[in-house]
Amino acid sequence: MLKLENISFATDDKEILRDINLTIDDRFVAITGPNGSGKSTLLKVIMGLVQPISGRIYLDGEDITDLSISERANRGISFAFQQPIRFKGLKVRDLLELAGGRGKKGNEGFVHACKVLGEVGLCAKDYIDRELDDTLSGGEMKRIEIAMAAARGTKLTLFDEPEAGIDLWSFQSLIHVFERLYQKTSGTIIIISHQERILNIADKIIYLKDGMISEYAEGKKVLDQLALDINPVAGTDNLLGDIAWKEVR
Ligand SMILES: Nc1ncnc2c1ncn2[C@@H]1O[C@H](COP(=O)(O)OP(=O)(O)O)[C@@H](O)[C@H]1O
Ligand SMILES: [Mg+2]
Repeated sequence: MLKLENISFATDDKEILRDINLTIDDRFVAITGPNGSGKSTLLKVIMGLVQPISGRIYLDGEDITDLSISERANRGISFAFQQPIRFKGLKVRDLLELAGGRGKKGNEGFVHACKVLGEVGLCAKDYIDRELDDTLSGGEMKRIEIAMAAARGTKLTLFDEPEAGIDLWSFQSLIHVFERLYQKTSGTIIIISHQERILNIADKIIYLKDGMISEYAEGKKVLDQLALDINPVAGTDNLLGDIAWKEVR
């Protein structure tokens, strides 16, 4: 269980997260909301990439607020970025071994990670010796990163807009990666997304607006609220599709 208590984050001139109180005990939670509402910052605070100016974070009752990123990773938190980081000199193979190695014997972890790479639509043998540099397209890089987070299958996996930069065809297979991760592990998945297909399979949806939680409830309830926010006239008849956040007031 993840618990955030009075979490705030601000830069010198801007309040980005305002007194967030949140208890996540469901297995699949989606975060959605307009650009700039603080979604990525919220995940970064959980992973320890940025430090909140106030508040505490608990994972299974343990206060992790002052733990480093690697200490949090050791506690079982992993993160897939909105814009994956490229590592010159590091190969896909190295990342696979890092991701799959834990708790598995021999090359079991590696084999499993190769399988997940196939699940995101990348043929392992074509990619295994590629370098994680800018010869990989944004979409390929993103899929590799998602595959790795899925291969690790940790207690808490955080995905920041997995759909960003990925074509619709590849995205269909990605949905299965999340579903399989959900079925195969007992961990929690938190995923920032604007995709209706992801919002639809979430146990709960957090709707973040201006750094505050505007709604946090069962998926259906929040989807109805979102539809009203986007198009007050059409209400729930307005299918979300790719949510046009620029139209949100
Ligand atoms: N380190 C930072 N310094 C200054 N502004 C930041 C920083 N991190 C985020 N912001 C700003 O905070 C707001 C929320 O950012 P972000 O969490 O990335 O939003 P979202 O992921 O919902 O689009 C944005 O206006 C962004 O420009
Ligand atoms: Mg973001």
